[in-house]
This record gives sequence, C-alpha cells and structure tokens, in this order.
Amino acid sequence: MKNNIQPAEGKLGILIPGLGAVATTLIAGVEAVKKGISQPIGSLTQMGHIRLGKRTENRYPKIKDFVPLADLNDIVFGGWDVYEDNVFEAAMNAKVLEAGLLHAIKPELEKIKPMKAAFDKNYAKNLNGTHVKQGTRQQWADEVMADIENFKAQNGCDRIVLVWCGSTEIYYEASAIHQSLAAFEQALANDDKLISPSMIYAYAALKLGVPFANGAPNLTVDIPALIELSKLTNTPIAGKDFKTGQTLMKTILAPGLSARSLGISGWFSTNILGNRDGLVLDDPDNFKTKEVSKLGVLEDILRPEDNKELYGDIYHKIRINYYPPHGDNKESWDNIDIFGWLGYKMQIKINFLCRDSILAAPVALDLALFIDLAKRAEMSGIQEWLSFYLKSPQTLPGLRPENDIFKQLMKLQNTLRHLMGEDLITHLGLDYYQELVEVL
Ligand SMILES: NC(=O)c1ccc[n+]([C@@H]2O[C@H](COP(=O)([O-])OP(=O)(O)OC[C@H]3O[C@@H](n4cnc5c(N)ncnc54)[C@H](O)[C@@H]3O)[C@@H](O)[C@H]2O)c1
Repeated sequence: MKNNIQPAEGKLGILIPGLGAVATTLIAGVEAVKKGISQPIGSLTQMGHIRLGKRTENRYPKIKDFVPLADLNDIVFGGWDVYEDNVFEAAMNAKVLEAGLLHAIKPELEKIKPMKAAFDKNYAKNLNGTHVKQGTRQQWADEVMADIENFKAQNGCDRIVLVWCGSTEIYYEASAIHQSLAAFEQALANDDKLISPSMIYAYAALKLGVPFANGAPNLTVDIPALIELSKLTNTPIAGKDFKTGQTLMKTILAPGLSARSLGISGWFSTNILGNRDGLVLDDPDNFKTKEVSKLGVLEDILRPEDNKELYGDIYHKIRINYYPPHGDNKESWDNIDIFGWLGYKMQIKINFLCRDSILAAPVALDLALFIDLAKRAEMSGIQEWLSFYLKSPQTLPGLRPENDIFKQLMKLQNTLRHLMGEDLITHLGLDYYQELVEVL
C-alpha cells in the first residue's frame, strides 16, 4: 500500500463552512503552534505515537513521523459564514481563547475573511446573518465550486479539504431526492428546499474531488446520493458530529463498564452551555438532530438486545440547556445508575467542566489531516476508520457503527499500519510465550 500514497507536498487548504467557535479555535490554535507559542494538545496527529512491530522491537514513533501528513506550516485556512466578521473578530466574539493569545496572531487571523454562505434560515432559525449567497440552490452549488477553485488558485494550494463546522441544522431524514445522484441533481436544478445548505457544500466539494468531513450531526454526506458521488470522483468522506464533551466521556466509560459485565439501569446526561451552538440547539428542531446523534452511542456499545440482563432496561436521557453566562465553557452532569454482583446498586456521578471548542479543535484538525491522507492514498467513500473522532459515525447502510473509543483507536492505528505496509497488531502476544515454551 505504501507506494500508492502521494507525498504531502505543497500547501493544503482547509476550507471551513461555519467560522464560529470551533473553527476559530482551530485556526487560532494552528497559527499559535506555528509561531511556537502553544502546543497542539489533544491532537493525535501532532502528539500521538503508534506502536509498530513486535513489542520487543521498541518502535514507537510519533504518528506524524510515521505517515505522510501535511505539515502545519503548509496549511492555509479559509471558509464561509453568514456573518461578515473576520476570524480575529469571530474568535474574540466566541470568547474561547484569551485576548492576549489572539492579539499575538492578529495579522494572521484578520486576513481570513469569510466567503458568502449558502444559507437557508429554515435550517437554523436562530441565526440572522446576511452575508449570504443569492439565487437558487443550483447557483449556490456552482458558486461554492467557484469559491473553492478561486481559493486554491489565489493561495497556491495543491490540495483542498472541507470540514463542516457550521451550526447544527434542523432535524431531517433522507427522502427520495437523496437516494441517488441523479435524483439529487434533478432536485438541485429544481431548487428543492429538501436539499440542506450543508449538502450544497458537500456536493460542491465532492464534485471537485475535494474530501469532506462533517463535524455536525446533520445528515449532509450521509445520504446515498453523496456517497455515490464520492465513489464516482474517488473522494473520501467522513461524518458525523465531532466527538467531544459528554459523549467522549460516555464512549470512554461505557466500554469499561461493559468490559467488566457491570449492569447499567440508567444514564442521565444534562448540560448547560451558552455559546452560539447552544443558542441554535435551543430550537427543538435543531436539538432533535443533536439528540439523535448522541442517543445511539450507548446502544451501540452496550447492545441491550444481546445483553438483556445487564442493559435490557437501560433508561437513557439527554438534555442540553442554553445558559449564556457559561459561554463556551460547558458544564455537564452525568448520573449513571449501575449494578454489580448479585444486582447490588451503585452510582457514578460525573461533573465535567469542559471547554467545548478546546476539545473540538484538535478533532477538526486531525480529521482534516487524515482525510487529506486518505485522498492521497486513493481511498474513497466512507472512511469508517475516522469514527474515533465522531459521535455518530457514518457506516455503510446495514453496518452497525462502532462507538467504543478503544476499538475505534485500534481501527485507526491498524489502518495507518496497513497504509504504510506495517504488520497489523492484534495484541494477541501469545507468540512471546509460545517461543519461551519451545525453548524450555
Ligand atoms: N464545540 C463542540 O464541542 C462541538 C462538538 C461536536 C459538534 N459540534 C458542532 O460543530 C458545529 C460548530 O460548533 P460551534 O460551537 O463552532 O458553533 P458556532 O455557532 O460558534 O459556529 C457555527 C457557525 O456556523 C455558521 N453557519 C451556520 N450555517 C451556515 C452555513 N449554511 N454556511 C456557513 N456558515 C454557517 C454560523 O453563523 C456560526 O458562525 C455545530 O454544528 C456543533 O453542533 C461542536
């Protein structure tokens, strides 16, 4: 496989629909790292290591020294938003990063000005931006394609990836127009309102062979029409919804409880957050999209239908409350009712004082770098190995998603080993003892 990967030469353009809290925290973070004033903590591609070969070989390189990823110094950022603020202003408004840090990289951030958004207020009623494209959905798609090509030419980029960091859209399910590329393109020509704005960006990117990752829970690329297009243009896709905060904790903890065959009768999760994401999620239609994305996680890990005694009666409830004073500093509470030996009851309480965008930014960076690698390795369609980063991983229809973060990590690492022609690691390890037995 190794020889098929194109080197990461030249500049990589990361284009982001939605220059809000997550996107500006990502961009400012990368610029600060480039200047040597911060560290990319939380990013597996920048900080993580990978074991190669047998344990006796002691090979444990950094992932970025093992696979050919774009260097942070070769990244150029751009994007779209319904508000006109440049990235410095948007980052100041988001109030995630301190003003002192933002001022240290002000020139780099100020020059990133959003392009006009493909936007339909019906998909996010709590937003009032006016920096938007006019015309029909077909015209929006054509304009987004032109935006991508112009950005690429003006910035001298060799490659582009798109990472959706836009607001969560209202809940919608796939309908007939989403079932095939032909139906989708006909609907586009008819200016059909069932095509959501996020789908316009995804369509435009895939048409140009540009990889697309979806950081929100909207369907977006998770429809047959766009999966078909991704195969047609040999383009990798990934989604949905950055795995951060409460769901991250859930996919760390639930596999552990299940691994020890401990029962769970209830899991109540609630949180308060006051950023713009929280404002959008305050609308019940937008919250529904998030709720669906979050709810599946426990079921997929615990498999209640196969583990009736332990998880058959689990009551799983999720609440998100918009609370402006907390800004991006989300506070979450989990109450987990568990039971052990002979059914004796216990409780676990988690109070996570997290920073949403601080957790999401490295996830967005890694997705961008890995999906660019996938493109250079000629991988197309759904990149299930990137589930590690996602709350509601996209899989082929009929395949159950894997939500256990440890299995997801193993899959990601084995994919990298496979790409680089290294042995896959099963963690069996019997051969060490087998050899010993034979020597004795
Ligand atoms: N912060 C996290 O930990 C986290 C975790 C998982 C998922 N997410 C998702 O990531 C997305 C971004 O989160 P955020 O906290 O940055 O939100 P945010 O509200 O700060 O930023 C979203 C931006 O998208 C813009 N936008 C909306 N529709 C658009 C469109 N059609 N085209 C271009 N721009 C558009 C908005 O104007 C806003 O500036 C949300 O969907 C959120 O649910 C965030």
